[in-house]
Amino acid sequence: MCGIIGYTGDKSAQQIIIESLHALEYRGYDSAGMSLFTSEGIRTLKTQGRVDELDKKAKEYDLNQSNCGIGHTRWATHGKPNETNAHPHGTQKLMIVHNGIIENYKELKKILIKKGCVFVSDTDTEVIAHLLDMNYTALNDKIKAITQTVKMLKGSYALSIIFRDEPNTVYGVKKDSPLLVGVGKGENFLASDISAFIAHTENYLRPEDGETVKITPYEVDVFNAQGKKTEKPLQKSANTAEDTDKCGFNHYMLKEIFEEPKVLLKTLDSLTCNFLPCFNNENDLTFFEDIGSIRIIACGTAMHSGLVGKFYIEKYARIPVTVEVASEFRYSDPILDEKDLVIIISQSGETADSLAALRLVNEMKLRTLSIVNTPGSTIARESEYVIHTPAGPEIAVASTKAFSVQTLVLMLLALRLSGQNNEFIKERIKSLYSTVTDSLHNVITDTAAIRSAAKILAKHRNLFFIGRGCDNYLGTEGSLKLKEISYIHSEAYAAGELKHGTISLIENGTPVIALVTDDAYSEKMRSNIEEVKSRGGYIISVCAESCNKIKDVSDINITVPEDDTFARPLTAAAVLQLLAYYTALELGRDIDKPRNLAKSVTVE
Ligand code: M6R
Repeated sequence: MCGIIGYTGDKSAQQIIIESLHALEYRGYDSAGMSLFTSEGIRTLKTQGRVDELDKKAKEYDLNQSNCGIGHTRWATHGKPNETNAHPHGTQKLMIVHNGIIENYKELKKILIKKGCVFVSDTDTEVIAHLLDMNYTALNDKIKAITQTVKMLKGSYALSIIFRDEPNTVYGVKKDSPLLVGVGKGENFLASDISAFIAHTENYLRPEDGETVKITPYEVDVFNAQGKKTEKPLQKSANTAEDTDKCGFNHYMLKEIFEEPKVLLKTLDSLTCNFLPCFNNENDLTFFEDIGSIRIIACGTAMHSGLVGKFYIEKYARIPVTVEVASEFRYSDPILDEKDLVIIISQSGETADSLAALRLVNEMKLRTLSIVNTPGSTIARESEYVIHTPAGPEIAVASTKAFSVQTLVLMLLALRLSGQNNEFIKERIKSLYSTVTDSLHNVITDTAAIRSAAKILAKHRNLFFIGRGCDNYLGTEGSLKLKEISYIHSEAYAAGELKHGTISLIENGTPVIALVTDDAYSEKMRSNIEEVKSRGGYIISVCAESCNKIKDVSDINITVPEDDTFARPLTAAAVLQLLAYYTALELGRDIDKPRNLAKSVTVE
């Protein structure tokens, strides 16, 4: 939620900030702004809408000489997404950009108004600007003023700050929101994530909560919460500029679906040895011993991979698994046992709801495993045991390759916990290799049936996904993907449950996507499909090549390859992702940046 950038160096700050904001736009895109040091002091530009609008506006001014500034792309939390509420916000002394939420801003605002401060926006951020101004006036020391200010804030924040009396210098501080320092040669950056500066440097530092950072073109200083200078290890990013390039695809989403064979193979290679699961910490054998039950906690797509994981772990390892929406976890007054294993799944590793659940579990001193796509992210750092998913950066707001990799990790975990004989496990892992290296490629390149189905879906406002067993869970993800980027209302139902009420919504032509990736369910699924058909439903089935029982009763059939049933969720997931993609394309939606959303949800 919101992307922030600070730059100081020898290049045009305006250009760097626009470039960086484009890279951070996945975090929010309802308004944008920047403040730049110029020969006449700080100049601030803001626009409603996308970073492109800000770029157009910036081109009207000749600000290219500026070598230092801060920028912001917003996902509104307080106040409408208009120009007034766009960041940066500031005072006579400073300008700031903020990612996060200040929970006590109303109380602070009242106090500040009584002291004579005049507010122009509806944001919580403006409160920080006024507080910092007052503290700086009183203490005449920027580090002390920042430290004092953040002590008064409740909530989460990553801030990038410039003071009018100190050109070429940017300050930053964070709590529970991401902030990295990009360390270059004669230039330095502060940003919400590496993608903002990876085109300029792969070296970075990761400040901790409460630490204040000061960057100039040649120096990076980090101060602890007591204001003392502290040393931070320099880290190197494994990402490259190419990871964040569209590489000729029209949308990141399509590029990322096409990356699935590569990243799934990478996952298999990194988590198996000689066709047996072998996780990074295998010498710590006790971690996976004596598990009573498993709690999977996550949000959105990551939670759906957890549902597929539940199916696999229960089926193969016979360990009971519950899957919980992270934002509801704390309200369930969770009853956990010391033998429980808690698994947090997150692409970004920064999702506030998942992080809050993890912290609650940590307070209970239980075993925590996180499955996270972003190395060094907060969730990864605060979990006892981490499995990194090597999906690489995911830019499209709709998660695709990360889902597939999370699902594969959970399948491997199910085998790891299964206690089945090695031959059985090796057979399953070989089948995963074969799907990933062979049939998945055919699924993503041979899309004629998917496109025909998408043309039909695009004409409707309501539709359903039905399935049994694991397909029921895959349907939830297919449905979310479709809603998210096409804005068509859809619901996923256990196929046998539809007749208990929801079938009343089926009318002539209502599309129903029937998933039958496991032939064991084909008899019962055929009956459920017939029930829907006799009420006028239009059936789009997703089933294996040989499954004539289902094809016969379908209006359109999308076949998934005749692989080992164990591996089929990987090909079925790609089908559902492409179905959502082509439907949204048909409707001319903004696929990579769907309305109202942001990639990384760092507010609760
Ligand atoms: O970064 P996370 O995996 O923790 O994010 C969780 C959800 O916000 C995320 O999966 C969201 O549902 C996606 N936009 C779905 O495509």
